[in-house]
Amino acid sequence: MTAISLANAAYLVAALLFILSLAGLSKHETARNGVAFGIAGMTIALAATFILVVDDDPGIGLVLLLVAMLIGAVIGLWRAKIVEMTEMPELIALLHSFVGLAAVLVGWNGYLQHTDDRGLTGEAATLLDIHHAEVFIGVFIGAVTFTGSIVAYLKLSAKMKSAPLMLPGKNWLNLGAIALFVVLTIWFVISPALWLLILVTIVALALGWHLVASIGGGDMPVVVSMLNSYSGWAAAASGFLLGNDLLIITGALVGSSGAYLSYIMCKAMNRSFISVIAGGFGIEAGPAEDTDYGEHREITAEGVAELLADAKSVVITPGYGMAVAQAQYPVADLTAKLRERGVEVRFGIHPVAGRLPGHMNVLLAEAKVPYDIVLEMDEINDDFADTDVVLVIGANDTVNPAATEDPGSPIAGMPVLRVWEAKNVIVFKRSMAVGYAGVQNPLFFRENSQMLFGDAKERVEDIIKAL
Ligand code: TAP
Repeated sequence: MTAISLANAAYLVAALLFILSLAGLSKHETARNGVAFGIAGMTIALAATFILVVDDDPGIGLVLLLVAMLIGAVIGLWRAKIVEMTEMPELIALLHSFVGLAAVLVGWNGYLQHTDDRGLTGEAATLLDIHHAEVFIGVFIGAVTFTGSIVAYLKLSAKMKSAPLMLPGKNWLNLGAIALFVVLTIWFVISPALWLLILVTIVALALGWHLVASIGGGDMPVVVSMLNSYSGWAAAASGFLLGNDLLIITGALVGSSGAYLSYIMCKAMNRSFISVIAGGFGIEAGPAEDTDYGEHREITAEGVAELLADAKSVVITPGYGMAVAQAQYPVADLTAKLRERGVEVRFGIHPVAGRLPGHMNVLLAEAKVPYDIVLEMDEINDDFADTDVVLVIGANDTVNPAATEDPGSPIAGMPVLRVWEAKNVIVFKRSMAVGYAGVQNPLFFRENSQMLFGDAKERVEDIIKAL
């Protein structure tokens, strides 16, 4: 067996492992296996690349490969060890920028390697045209991903103002850049001049920067998922250029799963998918309206402990505030204590609770809350009417009745957890401030709602003490 066919067989196995990995990651129970499949796939892919390089150039090529692997592994391990959970979105954004940059470099390399192939005819000329189209498209997607991800990183890490950049006619600028790209691609295939490649690189770098800069900081999680998708397509484009099947398959997997994830998030937030991919969706929610909802009532931790002690069924709906307060550990303790007393405790997770997909699930898994009591919104929504106490821990928009009851609300139509149907609702937050969407929440003023003010972690600890 030659090194190439051995590597191709290994790539096929790695691709299958990546598919199994994605399938595993789609459920809590199988997520660990999913990660293991992913690691196994990547190890096989690296080994196959190693074999190819040894076969092709055991000298300088091998040394370069080893140095690159070493640097990558050291940086990767170091970052993964120190990253905080709330910093994950910005780290992911930075990693996407590397994929984008790699695609640009591969594209440029592909062009420079083939500049001597002029004067070809017939099939060879057609193949060269296809090659040039691949170079151009790969560089474009890669450059958009590169600068877009850098802006996402800067905004998420608060190194850049998160307010959306509002250039006049911003949608026309984006459309114009895409139209220019189509024209330049045709031109480049007909006459592959260097200046065209330079021009498209500049246009794509500017477009990526503008697309993400036009989006408000709070919408960044959707943008990160979109850039995830773009980085997949950039990798697939590099795969076509390098003739590497594994890169094509993996890129397509990342590209389509990222696009699907963005679609799910848009649907959950009642936003238009098309407007998201066009980069024009970063319109900030309007100011909170002045409706007078009446007075809110407050409760103490001791009062909540009493309610919980008498309850038969409790549902906890966590949100972004639980992540900020890092309240998942005391929440897990409280859950265990109540379950020991025979109280039925379950969690209701909204698809966009927190700031990144699966945010709450990850936090609860970290605190070892059993998976089988963590339910999705659709699984729990009909059970609120039979629930004694709902603990809304640092959630706001995801439990806002205005979404279903007020057609004029900026979040109208967004599916929400119908917590207000329960007998008692306790809302944990530090003030009466609005949530991420900037909309007032009438839940806080309902007769069956009471506010428990303060940091969610401290308040849950107080309840445990009182219990
Ligand atoms: P939010 O509506 O963001 O509200 C979080 C609440 O937590 C705030 O009202 C805040 O009130 C409270 N809070 C903050 N720190 C706290 C602390 N230390 N202790 C106690 N409370 C604290 O939360 P949500 O219900 O999870 O909704 C998520 C929002 O993000 C949605 O609008 C969603 O569309 C948006 N979003 C989510 C995603 C994903 S993928 N998850 C992506 C993009 C956008 P105080 O300041 O008064 O404490």
